[in-house]
Amino acid sequence: MEFITKVAAGDAIKADCVTVGVFADGEMTPSAKAIDAASKGVIKAAIKSGDVTGKKGSAVMLRQLANVAAPRVLVVGLGKREEFSQRAFGEAVRTAIKAAGPAVKDLAIAALEWTGGKGKAARHDALARLFVTTARETVFRTDELKSKKDDEPKGPASITLLAHAKDAQVEQGIKQGVALANGSELTKRLGNLPGNVCTPSFLGAQAEKLGKEFKLQVEVFDRKGIEKLGMDSFLSVTNGSAQPPRLIVMHYKGAAKTAAPVVLVGKGITFDTGGVSLKPGANMDEMKYDMCGAASVFGTLRAVAEMKLPVNVVGILVACENMLSGTATKPGDIFTSMSGQTIEVLNTDAEGRLILCDALTYAERFKPAAVIDIATLTGACVVALGDVHTGLFSPDDELADELLAASRAAFDPAWRMPVEDAYQDQLKSNFADMANIGAPGKAGAVVAACFLARFTKAYRWAHLDIAGTAWKSGAAKGATGRPVPLLTQFLMGRAGG
Ligand code: BES
Ligand code: MN
Ligand code: ZN
Repeated sequence: MEFITKVAAGDAIKADCVTVGVFADGEMTPSAKAIDAASKGVIKAAIKSGDVTGKKGSAVMLRQLANVAAPRVLVVGLGKREEFSQRAFGEAVRTAIKAAGPAVKDLAIAALEWTGGKGKAARHDALARLFVTTARETVFRTDELKSKKDDEPKGPASITLLAHAKDAQVEQGIKQGVALANGSELTKRLGNLPGNVCTPSFLGAQAEKLGKEFKLQVEVFDRKGIEKLGMDSFLSVTNGSAQPPRLIVMHYKGAAKTAAPVVLVGKGITFDTGGVSLKPGANMDEMKYDMCGAASVFGTLRAVAEMKLPVNVVGILVACENMLSGTATKPGDIFTSMSGQTIEVLNTDAEGRLILCDALTYAERFKPAAVIDIATLTGACVVALGDVHTGLFSPDDELADELLAASRAAFDPAWRMPVEDAYQDQLKSNFADMANIGAPGKAGAVVAACFLARFTKAYRWAHLDIAGTAWKSGAAKGATGRPVPLLTQFLMGRAGG
């Protein structure tokens, strides 16, 4: 799917179909008005007859209007103007693409004029980005492992975003939107691949591939390399697994050598059985998504590299399986992390923090401007925030605010949660420096963040718990590609734009 922008009025644009919006009270947007005027009142008549309602999610195809260059005019409902939001914008774009049908190869949409609601109107570059990413999301599917592919086309080959005047912001936004969609799709694809295909060594090979394509410097450590680094907490999680672990380090260098990098650390558990503290069987297949933190680091690096952002970014991915066998870690086992701190593993299912803590210690060597770890870390975060907000944890108010602002600008919601010493007591152990879990049912997502905080004293740090937001359950089961938009937006901000 290709995206372009053209300056043209709704009635004059040459395309297989032109899409215009109408609000629920019958108010026509400027392009709808232009087409109505040219065709001598066809849209007005359709509103009057009740065919066009302007209701959210509605779409009516009109054909062969007089004096209109495009043979089809698709009228989508925008809902109530005062309620029109970014969310409604996305919904209208999705409705248009779905309603266009297979005959439309070349779809024009006059979406930039769809604004309303309270708050301030979004910038055109942000709208164009949202437009592109929403369109790409609408047609995305995972059929890589199906022997018979769907023969339905994946949406129109070309989509034109209509502008009223030449607008550099729109052109920039489209380019960025494509880069962002490419990044999110990489994340989704990796997230959707099953644990038997997407193994730690598969992720290592992916890193080499991405490195070649985008000129990233890539280093992949195998078990021996990881042992040499002293990452015994990480390795404790691999004790029951036949698949060898990988530590993957990727460097994107878009700024001066001397500029301190942002380090992204991703949890890459390619399958989480829980280990000896075995998980219940229902929906255990979903634990193939336990590498979505790592996948989001891949996606963000891809987006940032395609945008050629002037920032330095280091991606650290910790990848292994959490399995059980005769050699698996047992509850009560104690390991020494790379930092020297010892950890009593009271629950082998709290494995994410055990692999992340060593990666967070490793991150120190890059003298980072900030470190952000991304992890499907706790079920407790799903209880707290569902699948709407990513949990954001940081002791650093400034960094937290910067991430929250990025999350709003990218329409990728996050909510700040506490990381405070008052919760640290839960991690006391009689036999080691700390336990890996706190009291059951007591602020589990916060306690997990507090565990990580013990390894991040040397730099500015934030933790994103994406357990609820990295994928959807139910009929539309699949990875969401979140929080690639948030992270990319954050790095765009760091790059000064
Ligand atoms: N990968 C899970 C967290 C998770 C749970 C992600 C549900 C997505 C959906 C993590 O490794 C885990 O098992 N966490 C435990 C921690 C507990 C033992 C303290 C949890 O949340 O139950
Ligand atoms: Mn687990
Ligand atoms: Zn896990």
